[in-house]
Amino acid sequence: MYDVAKLYSAFEEYFGQPPTRIARAPGRVNLIGEHTDYNDGFVLPMALDRATYVAARPRPDRVVRVFSTKFREEDQFDLDQVVRDERRQWVNYIRGVVKGLQARDLPLQGADLMIDSDLPSGSGLSSSAALEVAVGYTFQLLNNINLLGEELALVAQGAEHTFVGVKCGIMDQLVAALGEAGHALLIDCRDLSYRPIPIPAQACVVVCDSGVRHRLAGSEYNQRRAGCEEAVRLLRPALGKIQALRDVRSTDLAMYGNLLPPDLLRLARHVVSENERTLTAADALAAGDLTKMGQLMVASHISLRDDYRVSIAELDTLVELALAAPGCFGSRMTGGGFGGSTVSLVAADAVDAFVTAMIDGYAIRTGRKLQPLICTAGSGVSCVYAHEE
Ligand code: GLA
Repeated sequence: MYDVAKLYSAFEEYFGQPPTRIARAPGRVNLIGEHTDYNDGFVLPMALDRATYVAARPRPDRVVRVFSTKFREEDQFDLDQVVRDERRQWVNYIRGVVKGLQARDLPLQGADLMIDSDLPSGSGLSSSAALEVAVGYTFQLLNNINLLGEELALVAQGAEHTFVGVKCGIMDQLVAALGEAGHALLIDCRDLSYRPIPIPAQACVVVCDSGVRHRLAGSEYNQRRAGCEEAVRLLRPALGKIQALRDVRSTDLAMYGNLLPPDLLRLARHVVSENERTLTAADALAAGDLTKMGQLMVASHISLRDDYRVSIAELDTLVELALAAPGCFGSRMTGGGFGGSTVSLVAADAVDAFVTAMIDGYAIRTGRKLQPLICTAGSGVSCVYAHEE
């Protein structure tokens, strides 16, 4: 359990006065529907019970001071001059969100913020989306702004596009804002509508962090996205008014795939099949059909590995080990890829044996120490402490 009282005291000690609000936004793990969100497609993530926390207190001036417990470093900026920082990436998540709120004509006053998290960063659990959403929500609370969860998610995504430089989709921010305890969300990334799907009690979701992070992940990601957009342009003469790969079916690709160069055909094949798998998976999960759900997860991994080419050897090894371990229904890489984690669906009564087999297997195969996380689905952004002065 995260210690909110500790953050309260740390804030008071650092800034000299106690916080008036503490907000949290969760990380996420995506069960299926990878690299589909920026193609207007379907995703099935769940919010985690781990989160990024922001303690805050309004200031009478136009200054924002932010202390990060992770970087043990402070950022300070003026609300009338919010610009990207070329040197320190972490500050851009906060500045970008502030800029996005201002761009919506929402008046803000200065604030002191302290940021803390019990989410591992860099492991593909969207600690960055959690940070963006938590910061956006904190400014909402301090300035009495009402935004729908969808709007908050769009502000957070905008920060990532313009201040951080990754052209991410909406999945991570949306589930950080709107996640529901005990449920995954089937999100239609075209109109942002969603359907909560209960996670069956007899299943556990286990996340295994490969421990590998690739520095080029951001540029590889942007390249995949550009490739998908190019595929849509090339298919349009044959398929008419398509806006995104969401509008393309497997049968269309079978017919007109020859319009695409081989590398773009592979990208399109992944996205089109992944959308179809995600819809089927949501139904399977809703019906409690864990065997079917697991099979779809494995098919998703193979498609990400062979067609979309975003897996790495360590993720493939983790999936292989999971499929041989006790109680496993299915396993796949989760998130953008090029490092990060896998997600496995495991029978609740076998989860301890599964975890042991994974730790032992990964140590033997790679020499790395694995710390599997058994995750329960948490809720979206919320205020955990409020004090009116
Ligand atoms: C990252 C992005 C998401 C999504 C996934 C891949 O997590 O932030 O928007 O595109 O990769 O599914």
